[in-house]
Amino acid sequence: MKNTVSTLLKQKQSGDKITMLTAYDYTTAKLMDECGINSLLIGDSLGMTMLGYENTLPVTMEDMIHHTKAVARGAKNAFIVADMPFMSYQVSAEQAVINAGRLVKEGGAHAVKLEGGAEVCQQIRAIVNASIPVVAHLGLTPQSVNVFGGFKVQGKSLDNARKLIEDALKIQEAGACAVVLEGIPAKLAEIITGKLEIPTIGIGAGNGCDGQVLVYQDAMGMTSGHTAKFVKKFAEAGELMRKGISDYIAETKSGTFPAEEHTYAIEEDVINEIIREEKKS
Ligand code: KIV
Repeated sequence: MKNTVSTLLKQKQSGDKITMLTAYDYTTAKLMDECGINSLLIGDSLGMTMLGYENTLPVTMEDMIHHTKAVARGAKNAFIVADMPFMSYQVSAEQAVINAGRLVKEGGAHAVKLEGGAEVCQQIRAIVNASIPVVAHLGLTPQSVNVFGGFKVQGKSLDNARKLIEDALKIQEAGACAVVLEGIPAKLAEIITGKLEIPTIGIGAGNGCDGQVLVYQDAMGMTSGHTAKFVKKFAEAGELMRKGISDYIAETKSGTFPAEEHTYAIEEDVINEIIREEKKS
């Protein structure tokens, strides 16, 4: 079944949790789609996971379109959401519409996601008026890392918690079809989820949200070093890959790979003739 804005909304209404993972390439998107994921997010987290940057700020529109195209080719049923990178929507509503349009038209996204509350409502309205669904993103919004002074949990103080509730209502009023709540206390996310008609998709926001999203390399155990408290490893894909790669190196070096079964045969008389010709020359 195709996942759309309306099926996600129905999931909220019926209490069927929405599943979302990040995806950045064809093979992974196809695999996730075949597993029945509701939505795939081409997050600007690709700056870190795919391109090796320290944060999401250097990611460009071209990076986002390139990866969105690959995911869109791989996914048949998932609702495809592409992140609007830093500075692709902040300057003006007009620029926001042009760039959102590129992610849909060139990338094949079904919706775009942008970070912020009241300050981006004008952009959300303009993009929605251009018939492009918008997913908002509140809380620990990674494009504001320099304002927060690091990747810090948001909404813990009374003022900050009130502001998040207000922002959630404002982005809904501006026309957002869903909102990602990142890095906020679970009880606050639950209150926001209860106040909104649109679905909330949490990451580090507890299980009171209408759905969950994780960066897939974190969820599949492919990242090393520090991972956030909210990350659960659902698989040890990193360990599996390390073992596979080490075995490949060892077998190639020792000559046990490729074996007979990985090798193409040739008719005896053909190869014998070639050998005879080689000897003559
Ligand atoms: O860029 C991203 O992957 C995201 C998720 C963490 C929600 O925005």
